[in-house]
Formats: sequence, C-alpha cells, structure tokens
Amino acid sequence: MDETLISTINKLQDALAPLGGGSSSPVDLPQITVVGSQSSGKSSVLENIVGRDFLPRGTGIVTRRPLVLQLVNRRASTPGSKNDLIDLKVTDSEGHKSENNQDEWGEFLHLPGKKFYNFEDIRTEIVRETEAKTGKNAGISSIPINLRIYSPHVLTLTLVDLPGLTKVPVGDQPKDIEKQIRDMLMKFISKPNAIILSVNAANTDLANSDGLKLAREVDPEGTRTIGVLTKVDLMDHGTDVIDILAGRVIPLRYGYVPVINRGQKDIETHKTIRDALHDESAYFENHASYRSKAAYCGTPYLAKKLNSILLHHIRATLPDIKMRVETALKKYQTELNALGPEVAQSPSSIVLSVITDFCNDYTGVLNGQIKDISSLEL
Ligand code: GDP
Ligand code: NA
Ligand code: MG
Repeated sequence: MDETLISTINKLQDALAPLGGGSSSPVDLPQITVVGSQSSGKSSVLENIVGRDFLPRGTGIVTRRPLVLQLVNRRASTPGSKNDLIDLKVTDSEGHKSENNQDEWGEFLHLPGKKFYNFEDIRTEIVRETEAKTGKNAGISSIPINLRIYSPHVLTLTLVDLPGLTKVPVGDQPKDIEKQIRDMLMKFISKPNAIILSVNAANTDLANSDGLKLAREVDPEGTRTIGVLTKVDLMDHGTDVIDILAGRVIPLRYGYVPVINRGQKDIETHKTIRDALHDESAYFENHASYRSKAAYCGTPYLAKKLNSILLHHIRATLPDIKMRVETALKKYQTELNALGPEVAQSPSSIVLSVITDFCNDYTGVLNGQIKDISSLEL
C-alpha cells in the first residue's frame, strides 16, 4: 500500500518530466534531493544505497544534469499490477525480447521499454545523455535525466542527484559556473516538499559546509533536511562525530547519519559494494565512539530512514498535491478542449491521462489508506 503510493508518485514524476521539473511543473512532488560540495561523497552515498556501481565518477563536475533516480523494490511492483508504468513487452540492451529473468535492471525515461541489465551500460548512457544536452565542455543543464532502477535489493525511494557545489571554474567552464549550479540546486531544494539530503565530509568543518548553508537558506529550521556524514574513516585519530550526532553543532530535526564509502583506492582495486557495506558495519560496531549506537550508523540505516521520511512526507503533503493536480487537470482539460480533437495524441494528453489516473489513485488513498501518520517510525 505504501509502495503503491510511492509508485504512483513515480508515475506522475515521469509524466511531468518533459516540463523540466522546475517551477513550470504544476505539482511539486516529494523527493529526496542530494546536495553537497564536489567530492563530498554524493555519488558514493547514492551507489551504496542502490547497492550497484552505475554513476559516472571522476574529477571535476561529473554530474552536470539532475538525475532523478527512482528505486523500485521489485517485490512491490509485480508484473501486471495496475501501477506498472512500463509493461512487460520490453527489449533488453542487446535488443532481444526478454522476460524478467534477471532480477535487477535500469530503465531511462528517454529510452522507453529498453532494459539495462548491465550497470556499466547505465553509466555510459548517463554520460551520453548528459553530453547530449550540455556538450562536452563541462556546461550544466537543469533538464533532468530520469532513471528507474528495479531491484529486490532496494527500498522504494526517489532520489535526485544534483551537481556538486564548486567555487573554481575549470577548463572552459563558464565564469559564473558557481552561480549556475547554486541556482539549479536552489530550484530543486527550495520546493517546500523537497527533502534535502545534505552530504558532508566528516573530515571537513561542518560550519563551512556549502551544502548545509544552502539547505539552511531554504529550510532554516532544519525540518526537511537530513545530514549525512561521509569519510568518517578519514577523521584524525581520536576525533569523532559524536557532537554532531548529538545535535550539539548544527542540529537538524532528522539528525545525521554517519557512513563510510569506498575510498579512491578501494575504487581503483574494484572493491565491491557488498564488501564495503560489510566493512562499514564492522567499523561502526568495533569503534569505541560508535559501538553503542552502531544501529543508527551506516548506509542500511540511512536507506531505511530515508524511506520512512519520504513516506511520512508524502502522506503529510497529499491533500496539497491532490488539490494542485486537480487544478492542473482542469487547466489542461480546458486547453485541450480549446485545441480540438486533432491533439488527442499530443504529449499534453498523455500528461492529462496520467494525471487522471493519479487523481483516481488518490481517491483510494484518501479514502482510508492513510491511517495513522503518528505510527510511522522515524
Ligand atoms: P561527489 O563528487 O560528491 O559525488 O563525491 P564521490 O562520491 O565521487 O567521492 C569523491 C571521492 O571521495 C572519491 O574518491 C571517493 O572514493 C571518496 N570517498 C567518498 N566517500 C568516502 C568515504 O566515506 N571514505 C573514504 N575514505 N573516501 C570516500
Ligand atoms: Na566527484
Ligand atoms: Mg558525483
């Protein structure tokens, strides 16, 4: 039931993607946006949550378009369910018709029906599609890339990866690259229903965190910001993040989760994410400072916490979303009527039909699926 709710939100996100996901979009959908400085570990955190290597990495601004990443737990999205956006007649990346004989794959919105079983190909496609809209000269674009990953090993969750904050233009980047990135991040995180995942390296001063500063501008009370502390393993011996976790530095309502991702050397030696997650939990369980709170440290706890926060947020914003969708629906219907029958197959009529489904789904949701918000464990 909760999974249905999130998959409905996912469907609507796809329908609205051509509108750019910005202020032109009639509804602001709840989603988790990742912000932080360049190289703070954003891509690493996302990969660990997904459990697969698939994001482009490298020096400079690698992420140059927003990546709307929808994780779908496959057990919740059974074939034939009415909430499946993409039906079963799909081809794999080699162009063969295929059944669901492999249990994890990715699909891009801009390549409908094409399943990517090889996550290396997903990385290649993200790079290709980034360059298609921005060129190769490290420019940026706020038009999102929409990627959905189906897997029995993920929690159903929508994440948006955004370019990292940078101060110094490199190569032939525009002089105002810092402002461009800042503006793009603000466009996403200033939406009242954006949940901000603020990624900060634990071996840098939290008070100087650009991502956190930006988050505090749009969310001064910290009511929709969750902190992630990366690189805990790189802290000076004898120091720890206990003061930050206890809310004594910059308190956030949802708190901070410390994590340990693979370091550059681990990536070079092809350390698997599985091994990395194993080492991460061993680190927290054996460390004098974290041993007693190891259950609240690490990537699996972060993923679980994100899922609860997202559900909580969707439920809290449902009435507002429903109202906005109904308003948009009326507006599109009026526009379509004015245009006449020949536009029946136009993109906006597809948006319209999805929004109609969405409203119908919500009728069910509002008629009893929301039971007790306070019972949610956060
Ligand atoms: P992004 O630019 O914010 O997406 O950062 P990346 O995920 O690309 O990470 C930047 C660099 O920091 C890479 O070399 C990672 O291997 C390294 N890194 C990220 N997180 C950690 C961590 O928790 N511990 C260590 N030792 N290195 C990390
Ligand atoms: Na990087
Ligand atoms: Mg990155």
